[in-house]
Amino acid sequence: MVTGASSGIGLAYAHALAARGANLILVARSEDKLRELAQELAYRHYIRAYALAADLSEAGAAGDVHARASALGLTPNILINNAGFATHGRFETLPMERQLDEISLNCRAVVELSHAVLPAMLKRGEGAIVNVASTAALQPLPYMAIYGATKAFVLSFSEALWQEYRARGVRVLAVCPGATDTAFFDVVGAAEAGVGKRMSAESVVNASLQALDRGRSHIVPGGANRLLGWLPRMLPRQTILQIVANMLRPRATASRYP
Ligand SMILES: NC(=O)c1ccc[n+]([C@@H]2O[C@H](COP(=O)([O-])OP(=O)(O)OC[C@H]3O[C@@H](n4cnc5c(N)ncnc54)[C@H](OP(=O)(O)O)[C@@H]3O)[C@@H](O)[C@H]2O)c1
Repeated sequence: MVTGASSGIGLAYAHALAARGANLILVARSEDKLRELAQELAYRHYIRAYALAADLSEAGAAGDVHARASALGLTPNILINNAGFATHGRFETLPMERQLDEISLNCRAVVELSHAVLPAMLKRGEGAIVNVASTAALQPLPYMAIYGATKAFVLSFSEALWQEYRARGVRVLAVCPGATDTAFFDVVGAAEAGVGKRMSAESVVNASLQALDRGRSHIVPGGANRLLGWLPRMLPRQTILQIVANMLRPRATASRYP
């Protein structure tokens, strides 16, 4: 099961897993795109692919998706929790509803789907959960405070589950991509959020599937991203906050605030 399969990193997961011969349950809001993708992958790779449209930011939607899959006789043995989005701007200026949706999609849906698929995986003694976090998880992000906090949640949650389930046959991996060339930045709607050279979604997915095969608990794809990921461990926390604030500060009001 791949969430956020209609675009970007999730779309690349769908292609990569279909190429490995996996049958797919594709989840996102864009039903038409999912249906087209399901047809294309089924035809190209001789697999079965199902499109389940859902808004995973809605309460209960993740459980509902799992129930719909079960009703079709489908039991995921790999779950890719990838759907997510970011907001950018001063915390008090961003609509509360949008930020709560962000928490709900980036965290709640990840927890609900993981909880739903685990019992069957444990019963079989095998399975994998891949949670797409971000390098945003590695330090707080002033001006993207909610996004950074949701991804820190995903990283912490995933690593804890990795340890809980490693001896019971279920692999859990947190993926921490840096800037990746997808529609993500159009959704954020702010050029400031796109820091650094963008990797392709395919390279992110390939690196993460290799890490999953090796039983790693987390992966930061890309040498430059790994190097940047070390900085928060080397520098004082307040210095890191200042550096990140300088990169992400909304440009229209850049000079008026610290
Ligand atoms: N691109 C980057 O630089 C970057 C870096 C680090 C981490 N990430 C993470 O990578 C993941 C994938 O993002 P992306 O870069 O591939 O962005 P993207 O191209 O915008 O893809 C986001 C996917 O999530 C789906 N989605 C969004 N809201 C949804 C909702 N409410 N319910 C169900 N599905 C929803 C979208 O499909 P619909 O619109 O059809 O629903 C789409 O398939 C996210 O978790 C993001 O935080 C991205």
